[in-house]
Amino acid sequence: MTIATRTRDFARTRRLRSSEALRGLVRETRLDPASFVYPLFVTEGHGLREPIESMPGQARLSTDMLAAEAAELHELGVRAVLLFGVPDYKDAEGSGAWAGDGITQRAIAALKQADPSLAVIADVCLCEYTDHGHCGPISARGEVENDAAIELLAQTSVSLAEAGVDMVAPSDMMDGRVAAIRGALDESGFAELPIMAYSAKYASAFYGPFREAADSAPQFGDRRGYQMDPPNVREAVREVAIDIAEQADIVMVKPALAYLDVVRAVRDSTELPLAAYNVSGEYAMLKAAAANGWIDERGAILEALTSIRRAGADILLTYHAKEAARWLRETR
Ligand code: PBG
Repeated sequence: MTIATRTRDFARTRRLRSSEALRGLVRETRLDPASFVYPLFVTEGHGLREPIESMPGQARLSTDMLAAEAAELHELGVRAVLLFGVPDYKDAEGSGAWAGDGITQRAIAALKQADPSLAVIADVCLCEYTDHGHCGPISARGEVENDAAIELLAQTSVSLAEAGVDMVAPSDMMDGRVAAIRGALDESGFAELPIMAYSAKYASAFYGPFREAADSAPQFGDRRGYQMDPPNVREAVREVAIDIAEQADIVMVKPALAYLDVVRAVRDSTELPLAAYNVSGEYAMLKAAAANGWIDERGAILEALTSIRRAGADILLTYHAKEAARWLRETR
């Protein structure tokens, strides 16, 4: 016997791991479907549930399919959705984004009619609506025009508010857009409508499947001139501070899993609610590995979602929302 064993002068951290009940008592982080936001892609047409190949389990839905979707989410305890419109018609300005009868506006109406208690959040960006796939109008020099873009984003936000949305979520990364949107909403009688800002949104390779889903890939160049450079973290804290100064109500870090240090840095820098977006490529990787039998699907997905909460996010935007809610219910 060693001295250490005889005198028991070492810590026995295993004592509190000996049963599920004890592990449950000392668990520091829990997942709750009430903090999930489920992204929804909405398309023109009727009776459509078009599977998105690179995102197994996800689909583009026509507006008449939304009532059933809302009922399913309600039943699972997922109380919020993030809407992405996938329009048929695109032009250089992205005018479909602020059309009164636009695809997202109609989707909002359908969801609020189906379930008024559902929090309907709309992504605000122009890339799904522009024929060139960039997040704002293009100047003669071939660059996205910041100040013209934020006017259009403000106009789009007012249109979404008029359609009955519960929150707008600008994802474009133009400078000054939160202030422009706040000002336009206030002037139009929507002072009570909150803004969830994609504050630290990186120019990430993990958006690939989304661009297939939303048909929003840039037709030339990339988004590195407006989205953040992946190696930077201090800059994320600054972006968040700027958006808070412009009156954002919720700030976001995106992507989530490859950016957990950024989630933590932002968490430590503000008292505002913090959202993290577990993006399409992160979803696709886990689903592909699971489909091949290379990882335990449920275990890996719940662990990944837990890690985002542990890093400090309050709100999880995730394509896993429905399956995770189902699994969490089964373990109760
Ligand atoms: C629109 C937008 C994108 C995502 C959310 N809003 C794509 C992009 O910036 O290219 C990505 C979401 C995902 O990958 O799940 N600008």
